[in-house]
Amino acid sequence: MQVLPNGVHWIPGYLDIEAQRALLDDIRGVVRQAPLFVPAMPGTGKPMSVRMTNCGSLGWVTDKARGYRYQTTHPHTGKPWPTMPQSLTRIWTELASFPKPAQACLVNFYDERAKMGLHQDRDERDLSAPVVSISLGDTCLFRVGETTRSGRTTSFRLSSGDAVILSGKSRLAFHGVDRIYPDTSPLLKNGGRINLTMRVVE
Ligand code: SIN
Ligand code: MN
Repeated sequence: MQVLPNGVHWIPGYLDIEAQRALLDDIRGVVRQAPLFVPAMPGTGKPMSVRMTNCGSLGWVTDKARGYRYQTTHPHTGKPWPTMPQSLTRIWTELASFPKPAQACLVNFYDERAKMGLHQDRDERDLSAPVVSISLGDTCLFRVGETTRSGRTTSFRLSSGDAVILSGKSRLAFHGVDRIYPDTSPLLKNGGRINLTMRVVE
């Protein structure tokens, strides 16, 4: 485990290849029940470059009319989100050091052109709980800063199996994904990167 200057915890190689494959199988099951959708920015309706879905009792969604929020159902199918697989709840228990279970796991899929702008995770009512994230597939360039947008940022590469924990003073750190490095992992047959972000919402 490495602790970066801004308090971000990074565990390179947290999941070995077998654990990555097992988790990926579970995520495929989630995506079969709750298909990936294209999220849109509040106000402008501009599509984001990632595709996303969720599992757990709540899921994070965004669209032009209603903006960033959590809801209990998939925005297209109207069905409740799939249950969070045990592979994920186990990771939460091991890494979060928090008395409550995660309620939401956001699944982001990045193709080789996708990125994510610098932002804070602050749509949760309970900000005392950490955000635990796992990377699968191609490597990305991850950028993390301070709790103000203009604060100094550091960048590092997140590889398949790495875990990142935003907690304590880094819970509200600005972060984003600047780019994906194609063909850097054999895990996903057609390439790309999956990021799984577990959170307590309320
Ligand atoms: C996110 O902030 O939702 C995703 C971060 C990542 O892809 O590593
Ligand atoms: Mn985020």
